[in-house]
Amino acid sequence: MTLNRKPYLLQASYRPDAELDFDSYPFCIPAVRELESIKFHSDVTFFVGENGAGKSTVLEALAIALSYGAEGGTKNVQFKTTESTSSLHSALRLVRGPWQPRDGYFLRAETFFNVATYMDEVGYLGGYDNKSLHSRSHGESFMALLIHKLRGRGLYLMDEPEAALSPNRQLAALSAIHQLVKNESQFIIATHSPILLSYPGAKIIQFDGYGVSEINFEDTEHYSVTRDFLNNYPRRLQQLLSDENEA
Ligand SMILES: Nc1ncnc2c1ncn2[C@@H]1O[C@H](COP(=O)(O)OP(=O)(O)OP(=O)(O)O)[C@@H](O)[C@H]1O
Ligand SMILES: [Mg+2]
Repeated sequence: MTLNRKPYLLQASYRPDAELDFDSYPFCIPAVRELESIKFHSDVTFFVGENGAGKSTVLEALAIALSYGAEGGTKNVQFKTTESTSSLHSALRLVRGPWQPRDGYFLRAETFFNVATYMDEVGYLGGYDNKSLHSRSHGESFMALLIHKLRGRGLYLMDEPEAALSPNRQLAALSAIHQLVKNESQFIIATHSPILLSYPGAKIIQFDGYGVSEINFEDTEHYSVTRDFLNNYPRRLQQLLSDENEA
């Protein structure tokens, strides 16, 4: 019988003594108000929703509460180039499983460049195939991270990992994620990618103007809009680009 160490992170709740001001950022965001109702899947939990729905705000707060730097990386990477972090992390109490992950990474597409610069400066490239991340393309360094750096038995937080990846590389990323899941890893991923969202058995949490709710892959807008567009793109383009559609 194999030992089941997952999930490492079950839930995040508000500290009883936290001061929650629902009229100002970040607590004014409906999904942030309902954050306590999210129960993380032991394999993969996705955050989906419109731009501005609060996915990065929640993911960043979870990452900081887990002791990651605000710009991402491993727990050893602690630096900040801007002051954009919300106070949400300090209001959270994490509900963890009995086992500690042995590996971890907070990956943000937005600040990956800064993390790469930091890795060059400190000269630590051991986990990255000993090659500067700056000497590769954005997508190549991302795949190097997934394949060489993440070791398994880990808790991995990722914000829009697809941003750097071609469709083919997104498929390769799905496969790499699956290998890591089989190797006792847990993922929490904010994404707009219908390819990544198709991961079998994942829990998809939708962030919207009402709060958070669980949704099936085929019920997401990502699936339906992409499918409809690709199946009917000449007609959709005609509709979108017609003179009548102009403001
Ligand atoms: N430092 C800040 N101060 C005030 N409001 C902020 C701050 N950072 C983000 N916001 C607002 O909070 C909301 C949620 O932003 P967030 O970045 O979490 O959205 P998101 O779901 O990740 O969107 P996207 O899909 O575009 O990445 C947005 O309306 C944003 O303008
Ligand atoms: Mg975001």
